[in-house]
Amino acid sequence: MKTVFIGQNEINDETLARAGEILRRGGLVVFPTETVYGLGADALDADAAKKIYAAKGRPSDNPLIVHIADPADADKYAIVGEEYRRLAKAFMPGPLTVILPKRDCIPSAVTGGLDSVGIRCPENKIARRMIAAAGVPVAAPSANISGKPSPTSAEHVRFDMDGKVDMILDGGECTVGLESTIVKVEEGKLTLLRPGAITLDMLRALFDNVEVSAAVTEQLGENVRPLSPGMKYRHYAPTAPLYLLSGSDEKRLAYCNAADSDTLLLIFEEEAALFPAHKVISIGSRDDESTQAKRLFAALREADNTGCKKILAPLPKKSGLSLALYNRMIRAAAHNIIAL
Ligand code: TXA
Ligand code: MG
Repeated sequence: MKTVFIGQNEINDETLARAGEILRRGGLVVFPTETVYGLGADALDADAAKKIYAAKGRPSDNPLIVHIADPADADKYAIVGEEYRRLAKAFMPGPLTVILPKRDCIPSAVTGGLDSVGIRCPENKIARRMIAAAGVPVAAPSANISGKPSPTSAEHVRFDMDGKVDMILDGGECTVGLESTIVKVEEGKLTLLRPGAITLDMLRALFDNVEVSAAVTEQLGENVRPLSPGMKYRHYAPTAPLYLLSGSDEKRLAYCNAADSDTLLLIFEEEAALFPAHKVISIGSRDDESTQAKRLFAALREADNTGCKKILAPLPKKSGLSLALYNRMIRAAAHNIIAL
């Protein structure tokens, strides 16, 4: 398949109308969002959804998120209640996905056979203009090959998806860089399934009862079925094994210094000059969680390109936006944590 690439300065009503046309006809369009790039298809068309799974190499029991242009459209595809309305008012459009009971118009091929559906209205304007132009809701996972880090730039997408999709829309670098926060709403209770830029504190400021799914921070046992099927898969993984270092900075820096020279170090910007003998990639300033979130996936891809044998990185905290970093990094590291 020939992939049409629409550059940043070619995004306009005409090219977005073409993208909408492709989606309506059952094709695949990669589009930017504020979190990561999405691999989109018509969410009302089971055959189109199946093409997504084929392009990504994704297991078919891992459900897709349905993207809408206006938070009020959720009602057409899911059964919404007071909790959804409150979440939408506070955080939508924005980096939040809400899991709700699905309506019949959403095929089970989109929801991996579940009777619930994830609804998300992205903040990114190109995304919303494209969905509006399509006139259909857009099912989209992250636009990476299954298991690899999510794409946060059009170059990442091109690397993974060229020749596998009809069109790629370049929206520049994603501003958040980690996938949306996912919450499940049921019986007056919220459960956080995947942390993101809408933090646990932000949710708890709005609701008394917010639980955190064990899969957010823990490794699930062999036979446990997680609430969010995606949590059980190895994810975001670079080719070289990644180890997360837990302990004081002093011990971490000493451990890194003693590592073989073909070990790549993910470090904070302030530490860049401390390792003349190693390849290093900075993930941002120590206290700048937003930059760390924005850079993480690009850093993991860049690490792969160096041909290193091993990657070492600091274990993030479990609070604020860092909980999302923690959640992605323990998966990228297959839960390999070295306590110093
Ligand atoms: O930021 C994002 O959410 C990006 C952009 C493109 O919007 N999308 C994204 O999609 O991250 P994906 O497919 O890579 O991750 C979706 C996650 C999966 O872990 C999946 O299991 C979970 O959402 N999910 C989707 N529908 C669900 C449902 N009905 N119940 C539970 N989990 C669901
Ligand atoms: Mg993904």
